[in-house]
Amino acid sequence: MHVSVGKPLFGKEESEYVNDALTRTEISGFSGTYIPRFEKEFAAFCGTEDAVTVSSGTTALHLALATLKIGPGDEVLASSFTNMATFFAILYQGATPVAIDSEPETLNMNPALLESKITSKTKAILVVHIYGQMVDMDPVMEIARKHNLYVIEDAAEAHGAEYKGKKAGSVGDIGCFSFYANKIITTGEGGMLTMHNPEYAARARSLKALAFGTGNKFMHADIGYNYRLTNLQAAIGVAQLGRIDEILSRKRTMAAYYNEHLAGIEGLRLPVELPDTKSVWWMYNVRLEGPLAGKRAQVMKELQARGVESREDFIPFNDQEIFIERGLVQAGDCPVASEAGREGFYIPSGTDITEEEQAYVVSQMKEVISTRI
Ligand SMILES: Cc1ncc(COP(=O)(O)O)c(C=O)c1O
Repeated sequence: MHVSVGKPLFGKEESEYVNDALTRTEISGFSGTYIPRFEKEFAAFCGTEDAVTVSSGTTALHLALATLKIGPGDEVLASSFTNMATFFAILYQGATPVAIDSEPETLNMNPALLESKITSKTKAILVVHIYGQMVDMDPVMEIARKHNLYVIEDAAEAHGAEYKGKKAGSVGDIGCFSFYANKIITTGEGGMLTMHNPEYAARARSLKALAFGTGNKFMHADIGYNYRLTNLQAAIGVAQLGRIDEILSRKRTMAAYYNEHLAGIEGLRLPVELPDTKSVWWMYNVRLEGPLAGKRAQVMKELQARGVESREDFIPFNDQEIFIERGLVQAGDCPVASEAGREGFYIPSGTDITEEEQAYVVSQMKEVISTRI
């Protein structure tokens, strides 16, 4: 048996809507009805006033920072344990990233570490809802209010996740989503910004489309970007959003099975869902500890040989050579994130996974782990 880490869930609407856009030749990022429809429906799904499509999660993050005018001399506190796109976006703006370590349980940003890192230059907190579980947002928002900081949510992995009944992307100033092929919903490549403030929406819409002038189009209003999502991609997005409830329900079923059947294995640390949150279980992420610590490479190799795919966790910001060399961070700065980066990996978590496949993953995990202890 071969079990992949995950594939997108498509139905007939994805191709129907794309064909519809194609036959109307509404293919660019400026034409067609699917872009405004995707934005409107995604904003409604997140509970925000507006949403702006972009070409990727990375461009969403960059555009969020540009929209909030965060630039050289400004410091942004960001969760070290993330996809490096989070940090690249800060650096594109010439701002200075400050790495914040994770909580050991969830691997999300630890809000207790924020205040000691705040200086007169701090402008924003960039939280990352890692693996589909939202950050403990109340303390983050309280600190942000106290110090007059923006809050940006990197919700690339967390479409539909909840914290105290509020959806990811609706708590901070701007939410950033990815629709890359392995995300909760996908447009192949793509992204979205969510916000309540109409000024941010207008600025993001202008900047993402070369900041064309409102009078003479070619008298530009600012230094813009081409970060447009195409109408063809938005057509896929509308179809995907139409099945997000089913996707999220399948993810919960997948996670519940692993939670039950992988429990109690010595050396295997399972993910937890905190009481105030509703995780979307983007990927089922486990960590090795105790007698299994340091054995991830062998465990993953043996799983692969048995047809079970897995992927290593992110290497955090503080362990990236390109950033250490530039003096932006030191390896020892975020020990919890470093440990996750060394010991963590995710196992097959797709929406299409069957119970038979999950049973196979569990049996292979148990066998591989028992020979390694
Ligand atoms: C947490 C996080 N942030 C940002 C990104 C970047 O998104 P994209 O690949 O769409 O640029 C990803 C995933 O790829 C991610 O997982």
